[in-house]
Amino acid sequence: MTKIVNSWNDFDPLKHVIVGRADHSCVPPEEPATSEKVPIDSPMRGMWGPRPLETVEKANAQLDNLARVLEERGVKVDRPSPLQWNQPVITPDFRTGSMMTCMPPRDTLLTIGNEIIEAAMSFRCRYWEYLAFRPLLSQYFNEDPEFLWSQAPRPRLSDKSYKHNYYDERISLEERLVRTANKDFVTTEEEILFDAADVLRLGKDLFIQHGLTTNRKAMEWFKRKYPDFRIHAVNFPGDPYPIHIDATFVPLRPGLIINNPHRKLPEAQRKIFEKNDWQIVDAAMPAHKEPPPLCYSSVWLSMNCLVLDHKTVIVEASETNQLEQMDKLGMNVIPIHFRDAYAFGGGLHCSTADVYREGTCEDYFP
Ligand code: ARG
Repeated sequence: MTKIVNSWNDFDPLKHVIVGRADHSCVPPEEPATSEKVPIDSPMRGMWGPRPLETVEKANAQLDNLARVLEERGVKVDRPSPLQWNQPVITPDFRTGSMMTCMPPRDTLLTIGNEIIEAAMSFRCRYWEYLAFRPLLSQYFNEDPEFLWSQAPRPRLSDKSYKHNYYDERISLEERLVRTANKDFVTTEEEILFDAADVLRLGKDLFIQHGLTTNRKAMEWFKRKYPDFRIHAVNFPGDPYPIHIDATFVPLRPGLIINNPHRKLPEAQRKIFEKNDWQIVDAAMPAHKEPPPLCYSSVWLSMNCLVLDHKTVIVEASETNQLEQMDKLGMNVIPIHFRDAYAFGGGLHCSTADVYREGTCEDYFP
């Protein structure tokens, strides 16, 4: 019997990771949560169904390559078992025409120490996504006597969980920004809702983004679940679609974090970093003007890098500004092509989920 699951942050030496798969991915139909997140000018508005096979194959080729690069560096890689996502989800509380994908794993699974939590996700189309990871979690459970396998309270995702017509089509970008600044999001406080990728883990401190996919009640749940941790609600007013923290605020090593210059951490929340001699550096500008077709995310996937240890980071190969900045910040950079995977839910960090990193639970902000 061995220790399989252990990870307290995003930068200690990575030894074991899950890399997603794009098989059978669909664009989901609109629903109260997602319709609000597809930008008005996106060609995806109003479309749903299986994604074109050719795009799935291209994404899988890049995901397989990421897995190979990691394995060459001695990182053990596991892969999920995708379902036929093109099936409806029907519960006593709602019905939606199709599921989405098991990309990206970072949204679904939250590793904190020896525990992996299946998140309480707010998209109806992602309701069963954790099932793709069950064979792996079951294996870890059988082999690691200390592995804590948990699931956050399952949300019901009834109509009460969303503000209906929260955004109407005519609402401008400025109006969206006002709402972000006012912490007025599409989800209600009816039940606990969070995506794992809204939680930034830094040892004893969890920085949790309050936004479209994570609500206040989730913060309260984390406080009660981890009474010895400090739970910080963070909010980045410059982001019109605040979903997932990993294209906004990305730690590279103890003491250093890059912050999206369009989504700056507010002054009051910077204090805890500054007091503890952490440097918050503006991330380099993305090399691309537009995200690839059928992509939910913004060009800021440029900063969605996968840190392998305090000196090594994987960055998307066409993101020349980000590559250069990493070099200047003293990181050894491994460039890999990954833009074909972006449309399936995100970049290099999103597309993975930690199983094992060396290191223990540190207190970086005493
Ligand atoms: N909301 C981010 C952006 O568009 C993308 C975050 C993707 N992260 C993830 N874990 N899926 O800038």
